[in-house]
Amino acid sequence: MRHLQVTDFRSWEHVDLPLEPGPTVLVGPNGRGKTNLLEAIGYVATLGSHRVSTDAPLVRHGRGRALVRLAVVNEGRELTVELEITPGKANRARVNRGAVGRPRDVLGILRTVLFSPEDLALVRGDPGERRRFLDDLLVQRAPRFAGVRGDYEKVLRQRNALLKTAGKKRSGSRDDPYALSTLDVWDNHLATAGAQLLAARLNLVADLAPHASAAYAGVAPDSRPTRVEYRSSLGGALPEGYGRPGGERAEPEKLAQILLDALGESRATELERGVSMVGPHRDDLDLVLGEAPAKGYASHGESWSFALALRLGSYELLRAESGGEPVLLLDDVFAELDRRRRARLAEVAASAEQVLVTAAVDEDVPGELKGTRFAVSEGEVRRA
Ligand SMILES: Nc1ncnc2c1ncn2[C@@H]1O[C@H](COP(=O)(O)OP(=O)(O)OP(=O)(O)O)[C@@H](O)[C@H]1O
Ligand SMILES: [Mg+2]
Repeated sequence: MRHLQVTDFRSWEHVDLPLEPGPTVLVGPNGRGKTNLLEAIGYVATLGSHRVSTDAPLVRHGRGRALVRLAVVNEGRELTVELEITPGKANRARVNRGAVGRPRDVLGILRTVLFSPEDLALVRGDPGERRRFLDDLLVQRAPRFAGVRGDYEKVLRQRNALLKTAGKKRSGSRDDPYALSTLDVWDNHLATAGAQLLAARLNLVADLAPHASAAYAGVAPDSRPTRVEYRSSLGGALPEGYGRPGGERAEPEKLAQILLDALGESRATELERGVSMVGPHRDDLDLVLGEAPAKGYASHGESWSFALALRLGSYELLRAESGGEPVLLLDDVFAELDRRRRARLAEVAASAEQVLVTAAVDEDVPGELKGTRFAVSEGEVRRA
């Protein structure tokens, strides 16, 4: 990234931030808009915020739309991405001042890995948090999965709606043959779309797990070993080796048939409950520390390190693949770590091609992260 400009984004009326390779550190008191800047960068990479699920909070109070413009170097080419965020309306995207077909077309131009305090929820939160983590990473890895994910969600919604109406009729009178044959069609759609998403997630976890465990051992060398494993609603029906490092690569065709069979088996229960009981929307990522699940057992520091390891592992994974060097965004991480962990993280961060770090006070930023420093104060960012 070479240059960030935002207008009416969150607390910022206007900011112009030149960016250089290596570490950039943003220091300033609480609530001055440091995270807002990382959020704007993350938005260009993912078309979403890591903090909110709707766009309204991203637009400055009293304004109608926010603008984010980011000049990026992608595999040697300089591209300027511009996003206009208008809540309640489709975003508008431009690349090098020319309109693109859909905003989705900008995905892949910039790849980021953002670590923030919200990530504690990856370890402590519901399975949905971990599914979102996997799917977001999937899209960073291969932007076409934005479409796959969207398709699956659509199919799932429709199928659930059908299950509800078919289930009601069923309990009222006899089976409705029309609804049931329609359901067969939706089973096929769900299996096809679900298998694509599931195969991609399984292969992602197989590739990510070694990086995540290594990252954890890196930041917390004195802690117990960790494991990261995909937990599928298909249970034992999932072929052995799928989702495991070095195991068989997951194939969508095979998974589609397995999903279809599982849907057949659970149909009676599904009609009773009115929801789809198998598929990637019911899955989870198991995070194990020593012999126990991290959720419910790991200490605060361990949970934090595990969340960080998932992000650093993601970073190493993206970095090892083609698609342009990812940018690392570290929001407020150092204050939560002990001295030793801080130093290890600083080492990793210092080796990144580009990393942005935020902190409330200078003392929170390890000395290794020398680079460009900016002081963030009320409404402005100044080179320190
Ligand atoms: N849509 C908005 N319009 C105006 N101000 C907003 C908007 N959304 C958030 N803010 C303000 O932005 C500030 C928070 O910014 P941000 O989270 O970036 O702070 P920070 O510098 O990261 O602080 P901390 O050190 O506490 O993490 C808050 O004061 C909040 O009121
Ligand atoms: Mg912050």
